[in-house]
Amino acid sequence: MVGGSSPSSSPVLGFAFYAACIFGQLLHLAQAQNGTSAVTDPAEVRTLNSIFQGWGIEATSGQWNISGEPCSGAAIGNVTIDNTAYNPFIKCVCTYDNNATCHITELKVYALNVVGVIPEELWTLNFLTNLNLGQNYLTGNLSASISNLTRMQYLSFGINALSGELPKELGNLTELKSLSFSSNNFSGSLPSELGNLVNLEQIYFDSSGVSGEIPSTFADLRNLQTMWASDTELTGRIPDFIGNWSKLSDLRLQGNSFQGPIPSTFSNLTSLSQLRIGDLSNGSSSLAFIKNMKSLSFLELRNNNISDSIPSNIGEYQKLTQLDLSFNNITGQIPDSLFNLSSLSYLFLGNNKLNGTLPAQKSANLLNIDLSYNNLVGSFPSWISEENLQLNVVSNNFTIESSNSSALPSGLNCLQRGFPCNRGTYYNFSIKCGGPQITSSSGIVYERDNETLGPATYYVTNTDRWAVSNVGYFSGSNDPQYTRTLLSQFPSIDSELFQTARLSASSLRYYGLGLQNGNYTVRLQFVETDFPDTSTWQSLGRRVFDIYMQGNRLLKDFDIRKEAGGVSLQPVQKEFQVQVSENYLEIHLFWAGKGTCCIPRQGTYGPSISAISATPDFTPTGDNKLPSSKKNNRTGLIVGVVVGAGVLSFLSVFVVFYIVRRRKQLPTSDDAELLGIDVK
Ligand SMILES: *[C@@H]1O[C@H](CO)[C@@H](O)[C@H](O)[C@H]1NC(C)=O
Ligand SMILES: *[C@@H]1O[C@H](CO)[C@@H](O)[C@H](O)[C@H]1NC(C)=O
Ligand SMILES: *[C@@H]1O[C@H](CO)[C@@H](O)[C@H](O)[C@H]1NC(C)=O
Ligand SMILES: *[C@@H]1O[C@H](CO)[C@@H](O)[C@H](O)[C@H]1NC(C)=O
Ligand SMILES: *[C@@H]1O[C@H](CO)[C@@H](O)[C@H](O)[C@H]1NC(C)=O
Ligand SMILES: *[C@@H]1O[C@H](CO)[C@@H](O)[C@H](O)[C@H]1NC(C)=O
Ligand SMILES: *[C@@H]1O[C@H](CO)[C@@H](O)[C@H](O)[C@H]1NC(C)=O
Ligand SMILES: *[C@@H]1O[C@H](CO)[C@@H](O)[C@H](O)[C@H]1NC(C)=O
Ligand SMILES: *[C@@H]1O[C@H](CO)[C@@H](O)[C@H](O)[C@H]1NC(C)=O
Ligand SMILES: *[C@@H]1O[C@H](CO)[C@@H](O)[C@H](O)[C@H]1NC(C)=O
Ligand SMILES: *[C@@H]1O[C@H](CO)[C@@H](O)[C@H](O)[C@H]1NC(C)=O
Ligand SMILES: *[C@@H]1O[C@H](CO)[C@@H](O)[C@H](O)[C@H]1NC(C)=O
Repeated sequence: MVGGSSPSSSPVLGFAFYAACIFGQLLHLAQAQNGTSAVTDPAEVRTLNSIFQGWGIEATSGQWNISGEPCSGAAIGNVTIDNTAYNPFIKCVCTYDNNATCHITELKVYALNVVGVIPEELWTLNFLTNLNLGQNYLTGNLSASISNLTRMQYLSFGINALSGELPKELGNLTELKSLSFSSNNFSGSLPSELGNLVNLEQIYFDSSGVSGEIPSTFADLRNLQTMWASDTELTGRIPDFIGNWSKLSDLRLQGNSFQGPIPSTFSNLTSLSQLRIGDLSNGSSSLAFIKNMKSLSFLELRNNNISDSIPSNIGEYQKLTQLDLSFNNITGQIPDSLFNLSSLSYLFLGNNKLNGTLPAQKSANLLNIDLSYNNLVGSFPSWISEENLQLNVVSNNFTIESSNSSALPSGLNCLQRGFPCNRGTYYNFSIKCGGPQITSSSGIVYERDNETLGPATYYVTNTDRWAVSNVGYFSGSNDPQYTRTLLSQFPSIDSELFQTARLSASSLRYYGLGLQNGNYTVRLQFVETDFPDTSTWQSLGRRVFDIYMQGNRLLKDFDIRKEAGGVSLQPVQKEFQVQVSENYLEIHLFWAGKGTCCIPRQGTYGPSISAISATPDFTPTGDNKLPSSKKNNRTGLIVGVVVGAGVLSFLSVFVVFYIVRRRKQLPTSDDAELLGIDVK
């Protein structure tokens, strides 16, 4: 859930809250047991019935509202509001008055896809302390009358279609501990009055539509533990005063329009366990501020123009499970202590200026390592043959010898700096991203791209014609998907082209290799399939990424669905003219922190692409094929092994091939064909 405000999202808050409820209910139960039955305030009953009627929902039978009395059953029992079996749900407290009138203190209408506005009468339920209207399709403005609900502690409108400016009266709800208005269509700036909410412990406004600077009054929000503020139009510098919010444990500031550097005052935020800052422009930052953040388990400082080396005390970050410093300007060597951190399992250091060699030792948990686009050299340590390891070392300058790189997916030599293989051999390539080979109506053969890629992987075709490299982990998802298949009909003569796509959580690159130099027309095919075109919260997601060719950003904030006129399931083609001058073509789809993170599922964000084709704008020469002598080179090691063993039967070839390629790449029919030629 995005920006969840239910007490359950913080164990500490949840417990305190729960304890308070139980106390209230014990008193109430005592009353009920001796025969005095409390009744709900009649005005509140009328209001609740009217609101529910307007929204077309009602209490689930038998749970509460028994015989038309809302404060009954579970509403006055020991069920807490975050119990998912009760929805919609209210909680009542019947001990405010000595005359045994019950008041509605909590209201949940969560993920029920209620369509409509928030009726004004809701703001008369002024005993409410907890209101969760998250994940519906509520439209219209947020009323200034919200200020009447002065008892409010937990308030969530996350993932709705609310619009207009945020009412400054939100600042009157000074009891608030948690506030979420994430993923809405609000406009205008954050009201400075929010700075009055000095009891706030959690605030979520990622993807909310707000713009402008963070108001200076926010300096007073010193009790904040959680702030999610990614994917907004917020501008200016990240305020220094955030460094005074010493209780912060989870801070997210990605995909905004902030300028760097990261304030040095952040060095005081030693309680942080999750820190995500990304996509800052200008102002170069150092890493000095993380010096004392030893509680960090998740540190993502991606795409921030950080110029520094990896801190020499990195070995003291014993809780670190995921570290992402990719797309910065980090120099120097990789400290051995980093690879020895025992909890670390995901490490992203791609697109920096690291030099030197790989550490000789590596902890057993560190199984996803991205070091692509650095200046690393040398040969590979023995740990590269560890089971389940993903290591992406594309575009470095390693010494690739079959002896020490054979545990890695093959073709790596063609993906080192300069992409040096088979220069001038090919003059086109076409790829069916994430799926099987397909021949289009115009006769283009889109080659299959169905290898399983993960957080730090690459794949080179066995003809070295093209390659793909993927980096990034869909954090928050317990079932991360790097491809998507939807076998439906799309409005295109080549409908099948759109049935699969490759997805990436950070950076997805396709390479045309060994190309003849000259200009090419590159066609990229896209379709959005994750967001339905319905009035549901699931429709409110946005996928946004950037497209680079040959290192130049050609499209910023590309949104497939927007490009298709605001609808899903509608194919979109983008065409570019690209110059190839060093025999390779690089297509880079890059997530710059924008778009929603978790609609309709956790980890629904980042680049998606269905098909690629590149054709020459010049008259090519040659036969567009790898000479068979080159093919022999590619599989030279295998042939050697086979011949050496004196075994020529196909089965043995197959087995040996399998062993050499290990878990990285399963043998394919194309490989077998190639081998057949080699063996002859
Ligand atoms: C029921 O309990 C309430 C408060 O606990 C008390 O004031 C009231 O007198 C009791 N009524 C009876 C009938 O026992
Ligand atoms: C409660 O029940 C009554 C009838 O039993 C019904 O008219 C009313 O709409 C219900 N209210 C809610 C909030 O479900
Ligand atoms: C709620 O009360 C019921 C009986 O009234 C009891 O069986 C159940 O364990 C209680 N649940 C909790 C979470 O206290
Ligand atoms: C009971 O309390 C309510 C709300 O506080 C009040 O409006 C009402 O007049 C009281 N009723 C009696 C009988 O005292
Ligand atoms: C909010 O409170 C003000 C002042 O008490 C009152 O005039 C107004 O009607 C209330 N709004 C609602 C929606 O109850
Ligand atoms: C809300 O707070 C402001 C001060 O920020 C105050 O002037 C105003 O009276 C308050 N409004 C209500 C309805 O309490
Ligand atoms: C950091 O915290 C220390 C002690 O908690 C305090 O003395 C210092 O002023 C703080 N620095 C900043 C920049 O907030
Ligand atoms: C990267 O860092 C180096 C050394 O600190 C510096 O010379 C260079 O200008 C930086 N590059 C960028 C793009 O910031
Ligand atoms: C690595 O780069 C740093 C500058 O960033 C330089 O001082 C150092 O000599 C380089 N080391 C190697 C092994 O190239
Ligand atoms: C790779 O390193 C070698 C030395 O080991 C050097 O001669 C060569 O120029 C480097 N290649 C690139 C593309 O940097
Ligand atoms: C990819 O497709 C080929 C040809 O259809 C098939 O043999 C292979 O098993 C597929 N690979 C994966 C990982 O699905
Ligand atoms: C090749 O493409 C580049 C960049 O798009 C363009 O500037 C150049 O004029 C093109 N050259 C030819 C011969 O078309």
